Amino acid sequence: METLSGGTPSCPPMWLMRQAGRYLPEYRAIRATAASFLDFCYTPDLASEATLQPIRRFDFDAAILFSDILVVPDALGQTVRFVEGEGPRLDALETREDFARLATGIDLQRLAPVFETVRRVRAELAGDKALIGFCGAPFTVATYMIAGRGTPDQKPARMFAYRHPEAFQVLIDRLVEASARYLVEQFRAGVDCVQIFDSWAGVLPRGEFDRWCLEPVEGLVRKVRAEVPGAPIIGFPRGASTELNEFAARTGVDAVGIDTSVDMAAAAALVDRSVAVQGNLDPFALIAGGVALDRAIDRILEATAGRPHIFNLGHGILPETPIAHVERLVERVRRQA
Ligand code: CP3
Repeated sequence: METLSGGTPSCPPMWLMRQAGRYLPEYRAIRATAASFLDFCYTPDLASEATLQPIRRFDFDAAILFSDILVVPDALGQTVRFVEGEGPRLDALETREDFARLATGIDLQRLAPVFETVRRVRAELAGDKALIGFCGAPFTVATYMIAGRGTPDQKPARMFAYRHPEAFQVLIDRLVEASARYLVEQFRAGVDCVQIFDSWAGVLPRGEFDRWCLEPVEGLVRKVRAEVPGAPIIGFPRGASTELNEFAARTGVDAVGIDTSVDMAAAAALVDRSVAVQGNLDPFALIAGGVALDRAIDRILEATAGRPHIFNLGHGILPETPIAHVERLVERVRRQA
């Protein structure tokens, strides 16, 4: 939390995107007890345990709420399923009728188990550990809602935005409002800060990036802070490259997540020093381990020395990551203190 307000502790705080998940045997064990992934997310016993597992094992400085970005479409009345080994499947939004069926406002009651998970985790988590809530950014969530699944290039949503910009704007506006209410409720339940995942922002050409990434994230941050003054927020506009500083300035986030495509030294120079940078170890380097991992870690630490930095990956940890490599990472980052 100190780093989010501009501090530079001797050793950067660290957590890993997707730190709870399939690379952990203890996660796989409890995951097997739930009928579906969404059931898992909506069972506070299981979700709070999954949130705490990586903290117990690695003593990270922050826990991230165990849930998914697609609970928002679920709470807007769209059918969401997760198919084992394939990923999310939603009833794609294609026709006017599909859009008309979507609720205008988010059903926070449906998300009550998520808020209960937050309360339980906050009660169990040590006071010096941060609890991070999250949501997907409107554009990223919309790509799944329109395509009905993950796609390599987000073509369905991008084509829809070109062909029907007014209808796409209505969807984005609805997601801004729904996500704001969802994040405010997470703060009320006890999260210390939130991260907005714009995982697919990088596919947007400049004009489209302004309209579908910058504007909605700016609106979301503003709405959250209208209810929770000064709410600490991390933005992760994956693929935003040269637009990183503009993203930070325009949206007003306290930290900006850097993906693996940007050299941390360049990001550290680009992003205003009043904004923390987060990232950006390559998840593949963490799988590889050894000297390659050590070098990658040191490069990031050197590039961020003396400026607010949260150590993290450049994207989510992958299921095949060896636990011993995560232990080596924690040890090496902390050794610098
Ligand atoms: O540990 C954490 O970071 C907290 C939990 C978390 C999950 N998903 C759990 C999850 C978070 C923060 C997310 C974010 C998320 N979900 C994003 C944005 C981040 C990113 O990776 O770009 C996106 C795009 C999603 C949508 C999603 N959820 C996909 C595409 C998939 C399938 C692919 C996959 O990794 O399996 C999921 C499923 C999912 N979400 C799993 C987990 C642990 C795996 C499912 C399982 O365990 O059965």
